Amino acid sequence: MIKKILPANQTIQEEMQLIVTKPHNDWAQFPKSDIPILPVIDCHFSTKKYGNHNNTESVFFSKSNIYSHSGRYAFSQALEIIDIDPQCSVLIPSYHCLSMIAPVFWTGADIQFYKLKKDLSIDVVDIENKISPSTRAVVVVHYFGFPQNLSRVMEICKKYNISLIEDCAHAFFGTMGAKKIGGSGDFAIASLKKFFPVADGGVLAVKGNMDKKPYQTSLKIVTQLKYMINLLEESVLNKRLESIKIIFEVFRKLRHQRQHSDEKELVDFDRELSDFLKIQSWFDPDQKTKKISRLSKYIVENSNIGRICTMRRENFSYLLKHFNRLKPVTPLYSTLPQNIVPYMFPLVLKNPDTDFIKLKKKKIPIWRWEELCMSDCKTSRYYSKHLIQLPCHQSLKKYELDAIVQAVKEL
Ligand SMILES: Cc1ncc(COP(=O)(O)O)c(C=O)c1O
Repeated sequence: MIKKILPANQTIQEEMQLIVTKPHNDWAQFPKSDIPILPVIDCHFSTKKYGNHNNTESVFFSKSNIYSHSGRYAFSQALEIIDIDPQCSVLIPSYHCLSMIAPVFWTGADIQFYKLKKDLSIDVVDIENKISPSTRAVVVVHYFGFPQNLSRVMEICKKYNISLIEDCAHAFFGTMGAKKIGGSGDFAIASLKKFFPVADGGVLAVKGNMDKKPYQTSLKIVTQLKYMINLLEESVLNKRLESIKIIFEVFRKLRHQRQHSDEKELVDFDRELSDFLKIQSWFDPDQKTKKISRLSKYIVENSNIGRICTMRRENFSYLLKHFNRLKPVTPLYSTLPQNIVPYMFPLVLKNPDTDFIKLKKKKIPIWRWEELCMSDCKTSRYYSKHLIQLPCHQSLKKYELDAIVQAVKEL
């Protein structure tokens, strides 16, 4: 992948001077967690549709949507439909992962970052201050599945004739008042790996009629098979589907030996990456036109939605109950309103320098957005160190949730 990241428009991009903050730790030093951070296929995966569930509605189930390789490519398709080019500017929240930056970066457009408040809600005043004649799109993120109030942003976008892109990577389900999440913006994007046990998949929902549909190609059978094997292997590695374990053990040993030497090279090279190359490496232009694999589409369309929504809410509530009164940590959100199906459990650490390392050494699955593009948002800088993301997805087992609770209680 690294080899493919030098595009023709390199000079335009280099002028942008985006600076990425350095990671706080070398993640390679930590042991790999046995608890899956994202959903995995297990024997409870059901193809039966669940009955009525309040949160089953999603804009991403509509037939007119465009399914692609992953969320970032769905985002890139939205940028293509808007005709974002190097003369344009796009407003993005200061708290982000680099996969949200890379699609804009590849267009050559200017990227402006707007501020967020302590609860990660949008600073609408800052958005309006940062709008310029070249601003063509504003991206809003419903962090961890908690919906943003979009009424003011929608007014601003209308006033300045700017497209509103709802990044629903964390919010496949849920509502905001009478509306479904993703139903307010001109575009909404979803990342399927975060809510379903799939190896690939992103969705673009477009409001109204599309003049031009993005060009897409089907995946080769070999690639589709590879995704299927990866999916099953991931499940086996996470102690699910034990009955097919033996099939993967031999493969894994052989591949592990080969990968080990490759990985070393990659990690060393990664350390050398300039900010420019680092952002680029989050986006592979070859994947941009790829359709979703058939298996992933099948899994999404036949998943037990009620189970996904219920279990995520139950797991989130379980973590909330245990973390609400602990001294070294504070849940970012102290309640779970009815309209929300959470993606992850965001937890604020009081002593991140020591506690992050303690949790990682205990093999707790954690994500933290450490690498951010520099901005004037103090909250985002603070959260790059203090805010961790813990899983609450439907594939977690009770003992895994308890291991997470125990490790946090021991801080
Ligand atoms: C808020 C947000 N948007 C977009 C993406 C990109 O999604 P994907 O990984 O499916 O490309 C991510 C991925 O982590 C994300 O967290």
